Amino acid sequence: MCGIVGYAGSQPATPILLQALHALEYRGYDSAGVAIYNAENGGAVTVVKRAGKLANLDDACEGNLTLDGSTGIGHTRWATHGAPTDHNAHPHQGFGGRVTIVHNGIVENYAALRAELQGRGRVFQSETDTETIAHLVEENMAAGASLLESLRAAGARLEGSQAIVAVSADEPGVIAGARIGNAGGLVVGHGDGEMYLASDLAALLPYTRTFTFLSDGQYAHVQADKLTVYEMTGGPIETEAVTVDLDPVAALKGEHPFFMLKEIHEQPQALRDTIASLVSVEPPAMTLDDLRGAKSSFANINRVVLIGMGTSMHSAMLGRTFIEQIAKVTAEVDNASEFRYRMPILDEMTLVVSVSQSGETVDVLEAMAVAKRAGAIQVTICNTPGAQTTRVADGTLYTRAGPERGVASTKCFTAQVVALYTLALGIAEARGVISADDLANRITDLVRLPDLVASQLADMSIYERAAEEFKDTAHMLFLGRGSGFPIAMEGALKMKEVSYIHAEGYAAGEMKHGPIALIDKTCPTVVIATRHGMRSKVISNMEQVESRGGRVLAIVSEGDEEIAKVAQVTISVPDCGPDMEPVLATIPLQAIAYYTAVARGCDVDHPRNLAKTVTVE
Ligand code: M6R
Repeated sequence: MCGIVGYAGSQPATPILLQALHALEYRGYDSAGVAIYNAENGGAVTVVKRAGKLANLDDACEGNLTLDGSTGIGHTRWATHGAPTDHNAHPHQGFGGRVTIVHNGIVENYAALRAELQGRGRVFQSETDTETIAHLVEENMAAGASLLESLRAAGARLEGSQAIVAVSADEPGVIAGARIGNAGGLVVGHGDGEMYLASDLAALLPYTRTFTFLSDGQYAHVQADKLTVYEMTGGPIETEAVTVDLDPVAALKGEHPFFMLKEIHEQPQALRDTIASLVSVEPPAMTLDDLRGAKSSFANINRVVLIGMGTSMHSAMLGRTFIEQIAKVTAEVDNASEFRYRMPILDEMTLVVSVSQSGETVDVLEAMAVAKRAGAIQVTICNTPGAQTTRVADGTLYTRAGPERGVASTKCFTAQVVALYTLALGIAEARGVISADDLANRITDLVRLPDLVASQLADMSIYERAAEEFKDTAHMLFLGRGSGFPIAMEGALKMKEVSYIHAEGYAAGEMKHGPIALIDKTCPTVVIATRHGMRSKVISNMEQVESRGGRVLAIVSEGDEEIAKVAQVTISVPDCGPDMEPVLATIPLQAIAYYTAVARGCDVDHPRNLAKTVTVE
């Protein structure tokens, strides 16, 4: 969950590292640090690190001449072992200060390693698991091994998944990197006579668009003009650098106060780009180009299992409905972290569809490993070119939402829903269960979606006013039925993530089985009551809330006057067919969560305790 960076070149490293850390701050923001090799400073590596937001580190680095070097590493932390303090912040150094490392992941056997190292007289400066790695690498170097060899030997001793980047005062100009397991990406960016490392490529877009992605078990020896990749043992291996077509400006906040608001507004374009990459309009047809060989297996599958976490699981829930209703295949959805441990029954007739914005979520990757061992066919929905999920799956459907920096996912959710919809259409076509006319009509309707979403974003004051109405509440319920149920879950997740209001999403039919006990005038209920979301059933839920003194905010279809009589606040969404109605119902919930958080003075882009990409269990 932490963000790690490295730079080797001829420019001053510190400003580059700090800028990249700002781009990675969404991954963790409780402390940060940099380490720079400075030949002028006695050939030492200088470490500067500070608890708190990255701005504290910026201040500490300002004018610090000992940071005047052109090789360095940096880190922004999401604490796992040890409180977020200056001394627990990364980078960490080995016992003699000759090895300095930054790390993302968890050393599961750190207690045993720490005791072993202490037994050899090593004194620890922090409570972190990371420091054990620094001591191990330094011991190996002290015995005569190179930095890369020392990191490989230390890596072999670590249990769990890790990404590690290391520098040593004994090897000026060299950075060693390791990716062990699925604990988060490590990508090498190729510049002109300079090289970069980072947890994800978006942090490096201002500098390069050419990247080498490290896979599980790969080690990188990085110098300004050369990258050499190794596996755990043996000599150098061949890797391929890829050039990505991403816009660095898209990763900036621009005029918006928060990334979340910017990304809410980017949805029409994100949807347009995603749709254009998955279907063609003249004449209407499926393309699904990135599916590679996976497409040819669709005719033979007898079951689909969709997996994801958080928001991506909510889109997977909608994907299940699309696949059952359109492609007529049995489909189920599971939380990837549960799926991976419950010994699921899978075979080569099962299609496993993983959904992950980052493509680096550890639970999703581990669940995919389970599916791979069982021989299932795998398709992944991902927003990050080259991410690990795309390299494990047999085929990928990319969402083209551009970099998403807000911790609360918005544009990637709606883009995922569209991608899952086209996947269902593609499976239906391959199985011969959809007529050419039906397919063409659905594609034509889908292409209207971005404009409908744009119309919803034209006047944000509606959502701001609704947020004002509910901002002082401590608890909220979100209810929906049918395709409104995942949207209720998603609305509740958005609200709790950014505003810290305790919010629960339920299937509306569940209300009478327990949640109704919570209803009183202090606990408002948000109801998804759009035309195709089993509206009449949901209206009776609203009446039950009302009769117990509860306030209701209803998301309704345009022109629905009846619901206004029951709800205190109604927000209407454009009328459309059933398939894309959940996307339209989501937009107000995202915006209301955003404005509620702003009204409550929350730091929308850096919600407490969260990280954008969850790479530890
Ligand atoms: O990168 P992924 O889509 O795999 O991430 C999954 C979840 O961690 C993510 O959706 C999380 O729930 C977001 N913070 C939701 O806004």
